[in-house]
Amino acid sequence: MRQLPEADMLIVFIGPPGAGKGTQSKRLLQYLNIPHLSTGEMLRHAKRERSAVGQMVAECIDAGRLVPDSLVIGLVSEKLEEPAYSHGCLLDGFPRTVAQARAFDEFLGKSGRQLDVAIELAADEEILVQRMLKRAKVEGRDDDTPKTIHERMRVFRSETSPVLQYYRQRGVLASIDALGSPDEVFGRIQAVVDARQQSSCSRGATG
Ligand code: AP5
Ligand code: MG
Repeated sequence: MRQLPEADMLIVFIGPPGAGKGTQSKRLLQYLNIPHLSTGEMLRHAKRERSAVGQMVAECIDAGRLVPDSLVIGLVSEKLEEPAYSHGCLLDGFPRTVAQARAFDEFLGKSGRQLDVAIELAADEEILVQRMLKRAKVEGRDDDTPKTIHERMRVFRSETSPVLQYYRQRGVLASIDALGSPDEVFGRIQAVVDARQQSSCSRGATG
């Protein structure tokens, strides 16, 4: 795969459960050479801790509900302050509520950074449910049960889809079709990212 030089891009992946955020993150990280921040992975790690917070996180994840905004915002802000994340990052699964998106904007504003693009991975729910049920047999993720998948989808529609509108209004949303082979989907993501990089380069050249 062609690899671009290190780019200071700040990108968010938003999409329903099973849309391919994790799968496509791996490819995009390699392409852009930026670090990855997956709140799902961070929280699954926290879930394993034998603490009151770990217990609370486990209850939320296993029920398919969101972990409280304050906890997630705290974890993400702490991580983004680390030097490794100061030159761009791909966020997978964050922000997931409008409150998280606002807090993220505030955080970026304070550190003089801005989001380059929020990429929506859009796909038909029924197909995604089938993907996750298939994954359940191979990987055994605790939240890949039919009941929890249903709740995760409901939460996406009610809590996370308003974030799409939030970014659309700010002119940073790009929606791509997340159906097709992983290579086909990545091609669409690459086109979005390349176009953003070109437009920021030409802005830099003219201004
Ligand atoms: P999170 O870990 O973010 O899970 P999710 O959003 O439910 O999404 P998944 O990880 O299941 O799917 P994905 O989009 O990454 O797809 P993947 O590439 O794996 O969150 C889990 C929980 O943590 C939440 O429910 C919540 O409790 C908590 N949480 C996380 N973030 C939070 C936040 N910000 N605030 C509050 N709470 C938070 O692909 C899925 C499957 O499909 C795989 O088997 C893959 O191999 C396959 N696949 C991928 N692409 C394709 C393709 N093109 N064709 C065929 N199969 C494909
Ligand atoms: Mg994932």
